[in-house]
Amino acid sequence: MIHDPVIEAQTPADDFTIKQCWGEYTDDEHAVWDELYARQINILKGRAVPEFYEGLDALTLGGSGIPNLEAINPKLKALTGWEVVMVPHLVPDLVFFDHLANRRFPAGRFIRGRHQMDYLQEPDIFHDIFGHVPMLTQPVFANYMEAYGKGGLRAERHGMLKQLARLYWYTVEFGLMETPKGLRIYGAGIVSSAGESIFSLDDPSPNRIHFDLERIMRTDYRIDDYQQTYFSIASYEELFDATQQDFGDIYARLKDGQPPYTPDEVLDKDMVLNQGTQAYAKSKAL
Ligand code: PHE
Ligand code: CO
Repeated sequence: MIHDPVIEAQTPADDFTIKQCWGEYTDDEHAVWDELYARQINILKGRAVPEFYEGLDALTLGGSGIPNLEAINPKLKALTGWEVVMVPHLVPDLVFFDHLANRRFPAGRFIRGRHQMDYLQEPDIFHDIFGHVPMLTQPVFANYMEAYGKGGLRAERHGMLKQLARLYWYTVEFGLMETPKGLRIYGAGIVSSAGESIFSLDDPSPNRIHFDLERIMRTDYRIDDYQQTYFSIASYEELFDATQQDFGDIYARLKDGQPPYTPDEVLDKDMVLNQGTQAYAKSKAL
């Protein structure tokens, strides 16, 4: 776990939130944000969905160091009713779902150090705020995130947390969008990563497959490297509408003991945009 004395000095509230204590960030921490921000803006040109840039602009996340929640939250609240809260590190699943269900996005306080600009074992404030928060300014996506939180509480009662987590992973974190100008990124795990911003769109290695809710909930994913498959949506409505059904029937089928699909698998019924070579995975002998 990353050491952050400002976190360690606090006792979290019952909902696991802490204070950001924005005045306590060091100049170097602010400088790391500015560098990461400038680097990503440069790499993301023509790669992220237009709504992502709209969100960045609406919240003014760049140019003056780590954003202060007191400055972001009034703007975000006015747009979609969401706010960002600080949490020490990862929070328990049910706490996380409860925040989302109430339009609160839990973000980490600490920022990565200079020795780990590219690799992170746990999400930091750059991933959480630069990656996730711009999309929360978009009404349909914001509704989806709230619905996901509520769905999490139901999935837990069905013993289906793992299956639901796959949906989050392949949409909120690693989702692509089919736009008139070609594929674009909306997933937070991609937009906050210099390497994956390029890999996800340009590399011949991964599969790119059209979104299919139940199929995704059956598909394992990798947390330790670039994805072997990305799923793309045609619109935020497609994503939101697919999740409006009661997942009870899907959960019942998933419970039947069907084995999960591997991260690189391509099925006959998939709508494949590009079938990947998986050369990257093979070169790393996964
Ligand atoms: N419709 C889902 C259910 O019945 C809830 C959900 C909504 C899950 C949105 C994920 C995203 O459980
Ligand atoms: Co994330």
